[in-house]
Amino acid sequence: MRTLLLAAFVSLGTFALVAQPPAGGGKGGAKAPPKNLKVLDPANFMDTMRTFVPALGLADKGGCNFCHEQDRSSDAKMEKVMARMMITMVKQINSNFPDGKEHVTCYTCHRGSTMPLTAPQ
Ligand code: HEC
Ligand code: HEC
Repeated sequence: MRTLLLAAFVSLGTFALVAQPPAGGGKGGAKAPPKNLKVLDPANFMDTMRTFVPALGLADKGGCNFCHEQDRSSDAKMEKVMARMMITMVKQINSNFPDGKEHVTCYTCHRGSTMPLTAPQ
C-alpha cells in the first residue's frame, strides 16, 4: 500500500514537471515576445529596429549586433542604452512640431554614420 501511494505520488510529480511550460530565457529566439521594451510599442517595434541599421550605417559594423548582445533583451551594451535615450529624444522633438507629424528621425542627424557631425568639415 505504501509503495503504491509512493508510486502514485512520484508519477503525479513527474506529470506536473512535464506539464510545466518551458522555462523562460532560451536563446532569445526571433519569435519570443519582447521582455524589455521601455519606450517602443511591442506591436511594431521591429519596424523601428530595421530603420536603425541604414540610418546609422551599421551594415559593416555588426548590424543589429552594434547595439545587441545575443540576448536582445539585455541592456549590457552602452550603444543600446544610448539608442533608447535617442528614441526618447526623437519622440520629444517630434511632439513639439505643430502638425504632430514625424519630421525628425535617426537619419536626420546620423546620415548613415554612428557619430553625427556637429560642424561642417
Ligand atoms: C541603434 C541600436 C539598435 C540597433 C542597431 C538595433 N536595435 Fe533592437 N533594440 C534597441 C533598443 C534601444 C531596444 C529597446 C527599446 C525599448 O526599450 O523600447 C531594442 C529592442 C529590441 C528587441 C526586443 C528585445 C526584448 O526582449 O526586449 C529585439 C527583438 C530587437 N531589438 C531586435 C533587433 C534586430 C533584429 C535588429 C536588427 C535588424 C536590431 N534590434 C537593431 C536598439 C537597437
Ligand atoms: C538631434 C540629432 C540626433 C538624432 C535625431 C539622433 N541622434 Fe544619435 N547621436 C547624436 C549625436 C550628436 C551623437 C554623439 C553623441 C556623443 O558625442 O557622444 C549620437 C550618438 C548615438 C549613438 C552612440 C554611437 C556610438 O558609436 O557610440 C547611438 C547608438 C545613437 N546615437 C542612436 C540613435 C538612434 C537609434 C536614433 C533615432 C532613434 C538617433 N540616434 C537619433 C545625435 C542624434
